[in-house]
Amino acid sequence: MFIINLRDLPEFLTHPVLNSNTIVMMYLALLMGIFLLLCFVTNKKPSCKVYLIDFVCYKPPDSQKSSKEFVLKQATLHGYMTEETLDFMKNVLERCGIGDSAYLAETFFKPTYEPLMKDSRREIETTIFSSVDMLLRKTGVTTDNIGILIVNCCIYSPEPSLSSIIVNRYKLNKNIITYNLVGMGCSAGLLAVGLAKQLLQVHQNSYALVVSTESITENCYVGKDPPKFLINCLFRVGGAAILLSNRPSDHNTSKYQLLDTVHVNTSSSNRSYNSIIREEDNEGLPGVNINRDLLATAISTIKPNLITVGRLILPIKEKLYYQINYFIRKVMTSRNIHIQQYIPNYSNSVDHFLPHVGGKPVLDDLQKTLRLSDVVMEASRMTLYRFGNTSSSSTWYELAYVEAKGRVKRGDMVWQLAFGSGFKCSSVIWRAMKSVDYGCDDDNPWTGEIDQFPVQVVCGAFPVDFAPSG
Ligand SMILES: *[C@@H]1O[C@H](CO)[C@@H](O)[C@H](O)[C@H]1NC(C)=O
Ligand SMILES: *[C@@H]1O[C@H](CO)[C@@H](O)[C@H](O)[C@H]1NC(C)=O
Ligand SMILES: *[C@@H]1O[C@H](CO)[C@@H](O)[C@H](O)[C@H]1NC(C)=O
Ligand SMILES: *[C@@H]1O[C@H](CO)[C@@H](O)[C@H](O)[C@H]1NC(C)=O
Ligand SMILES: *[C@@H]1O[C@H](CO)[C@@H](O)[C@H](O)[C@H]1NC(C)=O
Repeated sequence: MFIINLRDLPEFLTHPVLNSNTIVMMYLALLMGIFLLLCFVTNKKPSCKVYLIDFVCYKPPDSQKSSKEFVLKQATLHGYMTEETLDFMKNVLERCGIGDSAYLAETFFKPTYEPLMKDSRREIETTIFSSVDMLLRKTGVTTDNIGILIVNCCIYSPEPSLSSIIVNRYKLNKNIITYNLVGMGCSAGLLAVGLAKQLLQVHQNSYALVVSTESITENCYVGKDPPKFLINCLFRVGGAAILLSNRPSDHNTSKYQLLDTVHVNTSSSNRSYNSIIREEDNEGLPGVNINRDLLATAISTIKPNLITVGRLILPIKEKLYYQINYFIRKVMTSRNIHIQQYIPNYSNSVDHFLPHVGGKPVLDDLQKTLRLSDVVMEASRMTLYRFGNTSSSSTWYELAYVEAKGRVKRGDMVWQLAFGSGFKCSSVIWRAMKSVDYGCDDDNPWTGEIDQFPVQVVCGAFPVDFAPSG
């Protein structure tokens, strides 16, 4: 047996077998070991890069297209309209920027409006299953590879949850991590992307499926309170499914890489909190109330989001101008001299700006404040015209629009911006990994009609008087 006595150690170390060559060899072996260990460790480290492999938007059947006349006709037929609400609805429909081909839910085509739970379920299942089927076919990803599922739907919350409905339908992995976001408004779709990003940073080699949708079947307000009537006028069927990945091997095949997400909320302010709220009217009928503070709160929530995004993406020159202007304004204001605020030119850095369609007054204000050209706003306005307010999925129809127009080139920066009740505002910034070859995309909802856009949408001032944004 070879036992080293402690007292023998110095002798052992200087033993002739361990001549300098052997020591060098041992040293090298040690280095080699450390190197291999490092490789192993760095390989294990989660990849922080998140890719968007592809996404799809649901396109309901033509039989659900509803012209503005039809919307009015059905509402009248369903017998809950008064002269006042009818006038209000006419006015809003004329000026809201929605065209005659957006889709209503099947229930509104019946002679009476008495939606059942099973009607809502049918609407939501059709939207979700069609989108997910399409996405799986388009990407070729198998269901057992999906490790994370996030569903968001504001107003419809069945039991079992929407995420369970999807897991059950597609027999997803029993280890799947699922989140079901409800009540989070139109910005929830981008919040879901932010959540997926955080999860992908700790779960390596995963696919995350994000499903964003909304249900309108049971959500028609049948009372007499005009502010609650807005939703009936603007809200339409839609949904999107998005596949994200952090697998390094998807670097070359994915469409976009996620650069940043920015979330802002002002829910702690009562004014902000109450600007969009679901409550009963005087007669006890539930509806979503949009009050006249909407514009002001929207702007005060969107603004800090824009500033943070600006910090992340604007070139140094713009940031410098902004800072200098800010400083001079501060100094001058104290001497009662008013200097105009410098608004950076975002169009220099962003190739595709995709703000949520909700609320023409908000969009108009945003365009004016940021001095954005009509071309920059085109995707948003055309999505509103063609598909209506589809809530959280709307920015995906907008991305599909710029793709269908063949405008997305490799390296382009894409900015999705959504805002909604809470009040919340979320931004997601992407970099295009390739020039999107639209030619082979039959699943794009704009396919077959993209050449008809943009159309000129003429509409007067919005008939609801919102408080100025100040
Ligand atoms: C991606 O493509 C580049 C060249 O186009 C290639 O060098 C690289 O190995 C590819 N990466 C992967 C993960 O396939
Ligand atoms: C609320 O805002 C804070 C900071 O403004 C942000 O860190 C947080 O993620 C936001 N939460 C949501 C749900 O938007
Ligand atoms: C905000 O709303 C809460 C609950 O409705 C109320 O108790 C509180 O007094 C309000 N705060 C202000 C500043 O109005
Ligand atoms: C912002 O920059 C874009 C692109 O460089 C330019 O076309 C546009 O006119 C600029 N807008 C303003 C308001 O300066
Ligand atoms: C758009 O639709 C969503 C549906 O959830 C609603 O919350 C939001 O208020 C709508 N926007 C406008 C301006 O009506």
